[in-house]
Amino acid sequence: MDTRDLVRSLRMVGSRNGWRAVGAAWRRYRIDARDLPRRGAERARVPGAAYCAEPLPGGGVVRFAQSALRVRVAVGGAVFCGWDGAGPEPSYALADECPEADTRAVLEPDKDGWRVVSERITVVVFRHGAVEFRTPGGVLLRRELPPRWWDGAGRASRWVQRAQTPADAAVFGLGGRACGPGLTTGSYRLWNTDPSSAFGPGDDPLYITMPVQLVVADGGCHLVFHDNTWDGRVILREGVEGAGSGHDRPGSCEVRFDGGPLRYWVVAGSPSRVLGTWTALTGRPALPPRWALGYQHARWGFGDAQEVRRVAAGYRERGLPVSALHLDIDHFDGHRIFTVDNDRFPELPGLAVELREHGTRLVSIVDPAVKAEPGLAAYDSGSAADAFVRDARGHVVRGLVWPGETVFPDFTEPRVRKWWGGLYAERLEQGFAGVWHDMNEPTSFAAFAPYGESTLPRSARHSLEGRGGDHREAHNVYALAMARAGYEALRELRPRERPFLFSRSGWAGMQRYGGTWSGDVATGWPGLRASLALVLGLGLCGVPYSGPDVGGFHAMPSPELYVRWWQLSAYLPFFRTHSAINAGRREPWEFGPEAEECVRAALAERVRLMPYLYTLAHLAHRTGVPYVRPLWWHDPEDRKLRGAGDAFLLGDALLVAPVLEPGATERAVRLPRGRWYDTATGAFHEGPGQALLDAPLHRTPVLARAGSVLPVAVDGGLELEVWAPAAGRTGTGVLITDEGDGWAEPRVERFTSRWRVGAVAVEREGADEAGYVLRVRGDA
Ligand code: GLC
Repeated sequence: MDTRDLVRSLRMVGSRNGWRAVGAAWRRYRIDARDLPRRGAERARVPGAAYCAEPLPGGGVVRFAQSALRVRVAVGGAVFCGWDGAGPEPSYALADECPEADTRAVLEPDKDGWRVVSERITVVVFRHGAVEFRTPGGVLLRRELPPRWWDGAGRASRWVQRAQTPADAAVFGLGGRACGPGLTTGSYRLWNTDPSSAFGPGDDPLYITMPVQLVVADGGCHLVFHDNTWDGRVILREGVEGAGSGHDRPGSCEVRFDGGPLRYWVVAGSPSRVLGTWTALTGRPALPPRWALGYQHARWGFGDAQEVRRVAAGYRERGLPVSALHLDIDHFDGHRIFTVDNDRFPELPGLAVELREHGTRLVSIVDPAVKAEPGLAAYDSGSAADAFVRDARGHVVRGLVWPGETVFPDFTEPRVRKWWGGLYAERLEQGFAGVWHDMNEPTSFAAFAPYGESTLPRSARHSLEGRGGDHREAHNVYALAMARAGYEALRELRPRERPFLFSRSGWAGMQRYGGTWSGDVATGWPGLRASLALVLGLGLCGVPYSGPDVGGFHAMPSPELYVRWWQLSAYLPFFRTHSAINAGRREPWEFGPEAEECVRAALAERVRLMPYLYTLAHLAHRTGVPYVRPLWWHDPEDRKLRGAGDAFLLGDALLVAPVLEPGATERAVRLPRGRWYDTATGAFHEGPGQALLDAPLHRTPVLARAGSVLPVAVDGGLELEVWAPAAGRTGTGVLITDEGDGWAEPRVERFTSRWRVGAVAVEREGADEAGYVLRVRGDA
């Protein structure tokens, strides 16, 4: 028994539940010991020699002595490779049907074996099963070595595949990794995990793992996605340039899975093309309603409706706009989902209306686990619908979550998603405007490792869309399928509104349904840095809407840390304070007058930038390009930028350099190419290079790209802030507007800035004038 884990879980769930968690761990262990297929004798296998190839639309099949490889270029440029007969479907990641094959791409013999030439990638299949991906100009992006399988009688084959990447390559992604955004040498597990206490940069894996890697090298960028939901690992080793005798040692990436198909997609091009193709394949990010870009306040432990009113009034009286208040599990009756404690929260719909009059919505937490209690509506209707996960012997699996003993809906079954979706009607009737999915890794408390992994038994059965399988295959997509159920329900129940949904756990494609947040990030400066790493890394996996618990989850931050966290988050898509029940308060006025003033300024800037942020939300929805982008976004060949994870681009126009260290009064920032204005002073710095910026407590250093045209809100109206282009240069900007919710086509306006007779002018596409008040800034 691991005592540390035991103590940790006792602390977490309280001693009564803590002892129950010991029992739950034991039960889980026994079920798996009984029902999991045993690992018997295995036979290792490699593809062997190729003996023939058949062309098919978009590529073809190469046959080897002991396997076959299907290569298929899809319309849009993504390349699919599937071994052992694996096709692109079925897949939890793909948005709709698999895109058509690009019939211009054909398989043809090559001196080394065969090749498929397509617009963006050339694929070379070698006679012993290695596969190379090259740019149209012939630069090597990735070389996959022949895979190796371990086949066992009657059970899933394990497999491993090693790839080489250019010596200078930097790797990003793999879902939400607190150690990022750049991933260094190490082993990264692919198994969605609740770290079970507040986490920092050293904790891995976390709630969202994804076999998605964005590889950035001088020769080009590519994304590789292993479409496999099983437990796996990615082991990265950095390359060395000029190693030994002057030859480079390539970087290497080893991918291992405990089962499931060996199939993957490769997408190449500029970062924006890669994200565009990736989100065309797996779904464009859902467009949140406009209010979801405002500041939000969550609290575990509001206690009662009066306290909710008090906090809302506190914000109002101080002129600090709060767009939503989030109610956590304590508003439920005894932590039972889809109920309300009517003594403490009488007339919740009335409270919702009252808050709404002041522009504040209510958002509800929704956990997947249903208390196993006859008489509880969700339990009774779920039992009648046969909705809960069973073990191999057909008994409903019981776990332990906040309300005590619980059962778990099988979201991988369409019928169950439909039943579950029906329950959201109750949340809407209570007046909630959005949902916050939590504990959906899924988490079931278990007290000690290794038997006590805090999730369902691996042998638990799942529908997997009718194909049938166990938790080893369903675990990583549990939250994704729950998000689908929630999203589809909200669309049906409120067809005229855009769903607001965010989820702690998820997988490739989760952006179709909504966003996510950091989860229980540790209060402290490392937690602050991890917050940014998560948002950047998730954006590169196609999930652009996320943000941290401002102030950190588990302890009371110092006023300085709170201010810096707030200042960072004011520039992140999802902007919300939250904390554990006993972690102290997060209202800005709890941190003293100086902190309150700093927060006020940061919030005012957020409000001013709303038209710009909303435009970025639309752009993310249309193109997959995240709002928050790494500094190397337009300069992927700049290696210094690739290593700079402490600042970011917000859209094309702004470079935000948040303060992530205590005691700072200034900070250095790496600049991408071009001219950048310090938005506080109007002075400019030329990139590439480094600039030192003033960063007293009341200020977040932000730079604006010369020439950019930013839509901003001023006194309730809309203006264009224009940063003077360098002499002889032009700049651009875009504004996308709509009603703030609903599905009507938005209006898109594009602008160009230039010097005209000694003054900066802005033209709107199709017109001579901008059509808005201009504020020209920057002394060029
Ligand atoms: C989990 C969530 C956290 C929430 C708590 C209680 O720890 O990550 O945000 O407050 O559960 O519901």
